[in-house]
Amino acid sequence: VIDYTGMMSSAQNPKGFKKEELLGLQNELDQAQTALSSLRDSGKLDFSKLLDPMKAQLSMIVEYADNVVSKYDNFVVLGIGGSALGPLAVHQALNHYYYNELPSEKRSYRPRLYVMDNIDPVRFNELLQILDPRKTLFNVISKSGNTSETMAQFLIVRNTLRRVCGESYAEHIVVTTDKEKGNLLPIVLKEGYQRFVIPAGIGGRFSELTPVGLLAAAICGIDVHQLLEGALAMDQWIRDSKGVYSNPAQLRAALAHLSGQRGKNISVFMPYADGLKTMADWYAQLWAESLGKRFDRQGRVLHVGQTPVKALGVTDQHSQVQLYVEGPDDKVITFVTVDKFKETREIPMDLELPEDIQFLSGRTLEELLYAEQKATEYALTLAGRQHQKLILPTLDAYNVGQLLLLLEWETAYMGELLNINAFDQPGVEEGKNGTYALMGRKGYEARKKEIEEYGEV
Ligand code: PA5
Repeated sequence: VIDYTGMMSSAQNPKGFKKEELLGLQNELDQAQTALSSLRDSGKLDFSKLLDPMKAQLSMIVEYADNVVSKYDNFVVLGIGGSALGPLAVHQALNHYYYNELPSEKRSYRPRLYVMDNIDPVRFNELLQILDPRKTLFNVISKSGNTSETMAQFLIVRNTLRRVCGESYAEHIVVTTDKEKGNLLPIVLKEGYQRFVIPAGIGGRFSELTPVGLLAAAICGIDVHQLLEGALAMDQWIRDSKGVYSNPAQLRAALAHLSGQRGKNISVFMPYADGLKTMADWYAQLWAESLGKRFDRQGRVLHVGQTPVKALGVTDQHSQVQLYVEGPDDKVITFVTVDKFKETREIPMDLELPEDIQFLSGRTLEELLYAEQKATEYALTLAGRQHQKLILPTLDAYNVGQLLLLLEWETAYMGELLNINAFDQPGVEEGKNGTYALMGRKGYEARKKEIEEYGEV
């Protein structure tokens, strides 16, 4: 459910949007729908197009996962950006919050999960210090098969495995990469690692529902079938429904677009569930990398894109919310709430308490959480700030699948409304190329010289 009353004009918030303003975008949204569906037909909207074929591949992924789980205590994802945030977000949303700390039987004897999405030498070394390589399976994920960070991690791990496991080291590596391209692939083929394919056209940040995310999810016991079913249901809904008030992706994109036009350059994603904390990281990448663009499709300079901010309710009520309520009116806030938590916790009844904290006695943590969210919403409304709410019935695989697809589709719609390509990331590639150059990769000599000269200025 999308509750967007906080975005609309009301007695408390006359600055909100009028219904007609949203309807005023309908022509553009219709054109976007046509453009996106022809992109999909021509095989270029893979996050949607691949859901069905992925269903067919699922049994292979699950079968592999079921075969290996009993052999390993740890499953480590080596990847970065779109090759790490999805697996992390879905795991945190659906598994026990302290999954890794659970005794093995409470994890159904499945491996612990670590996602190593950085190259900080301290963190990397410390991870290797706590793992027994003989009991660890490493999943190297890189679509391009070229990313320096992931390749460096892979080379270190391979070395360790060779030293500790000898000839059987290759059994400890499973690689998820492109079918044909990249520098990882020839090594995979030569050394005979188990391999999963990232479909060619999909961008990293849209790839959670491919083997990128599905393998880690299956290894950790997540119901990947339900995850995909939820995604498929949302996909169908968005593709079939016409009109801003029927199509949830159109609605969210229209609200974001109008708010951007009114100078709201910041989009805050604020779940009120710790399980969705990393979903905010995933969303931040999706929104930033897809929509932060210099040029429109005709090559005109634009410099567009709302800056995503990740926040967590209620924690950030005690830090950022002050800014949201009283600071510059440049933000639009999306709360994400869960109607029914999988756990409940009562605050003990204590009639001896001082009168001013009696109100907590006998209530639940969920009640407190909902009250805090509602109170924040109200404070924002009174301050004339726009906000909306995505309401999930429960935090289960089906609903998480739906959420992922909704956010992906609204990003695609937003790309159309902004007339930009939401599926490339030239700014990221620029940084990757600069790194190759500075680290001395062959063929990048001119770039190296250019950067070094720039550094001297
Ligand atoms: O969304 C993207 O395309 C990027 O964030 C990539 O996922 C990230 O740069 C990692 O790339 P790769 O999977 O090719 O190693």
